[in-house]
Amino acid sequence: MQQVAIVTGAGRGIGLAIAERLATEATQVAIFELDRQLGEEAVLRLKENGKQACFYQCNVAQPDSVASACAALEHDLGAPQVLVNNAGVIRDNRLEKICEEDWNTVIDTNLKSAFLMCKAVVPLMRKAGGGKIVNITSRAWLGSIGQVNYSASKGGLVSLTRSLALELASDFINVNAVAPGLIDTPMVRSLPEHVRERLIQAQPTRKMGRPEDIAAAVAFLTSDEAQFITGQVLNVCGGKSVGLSLL
Ligand SMILES: NC(=O)c1ccc[n+]([C@@H]2O[C@H](COP(=O)([O-])OP(=O)(O)OC[C@H]3O[C@@H](n4cnc5c(N)ncnc54)[C@H](O)[C@@H]3O)[C@@H](O)[C@H]2O)c1
Repeated sequence: MQQVAIVTGAGRGIGLAIAERLATEATQVAIFELDRQLGEEAVLRLKENGKQACFYQCNVAQPDSVASACAALEHDLGAPQVLVNNAGVIRDNRLEKICEEDWNTVIDTNLKSAFLMCKAVVPLMRKAGGGKIVNITSRAWLGSIGQVNYSASKGGLVSLTRSLALELASDFINVNAVAPGLIDTPMVRSLPEHVRERLIQAQPTRKMGRPEDIAAAVAFLTSDEAQFITGQVLNVCGGKSVGLSLL
């Protein structure tokens, strides 16, 4: 039977790499993306590589948008077996410079979105007899200067993951999180060069990871090999979560 996997924010960066990794002859990937052009280009790219993908325009921070995209997906493809909550944004600044709008945008896009997507998708997974959910959090959930909004959203995502894993274990729905470190994507490339360079120097590896490194972790957590793993956070951060690497 054909599988269906939803990946949010899959128009570029980590989400696109996850979509490319999960899409196979046996798995149709539904790209839930805010930006129509990015979403359509991503589908084209996957199809050119012989993969199965379709695009649903969706703002994952908006309840109506999530509800209508999920209803359209169910109508077109049936129940999804995999949900990857990847869409996320940054609005970095020190506390005194973060305005309420930036706080709300980050919390809504990074955290409320996972609540909305899970609320819409879990009943479908239950009916289908099970599924796998992976939330893309960040190493920054452990704490990060200039990111109180972002790290709070990602810490919330870890707590959501752990609680939902307990709630859904008896429904055969696994809920895990992947916590990337610094990954070379358009999000990171949008940072000023001196900031990016400082972040690279703070890596134990002194280099950024690749979106494919995150996709590999997601592929494992959504595979049958991971059927007894739930409620966990898999750090894919070149050792940054361990601690400072300077002598
Ligand atoms: N790049 C990193 O170093 C890094 C590190 C840790 C965690 N992460 C997390 O990984 C995820 C992907 O990051 P990335 O670096 O690929 O980012 P990116 O900015 O390159 O891509 C994010 C994608 O999400 C989409 N998106 C944004 N808001 C949306 C919304 N409301 N609804 C639907 N789609 C929306 C964007 O259009 C874009 O296509 C994010 O959750 C991010 O917080 C990234």
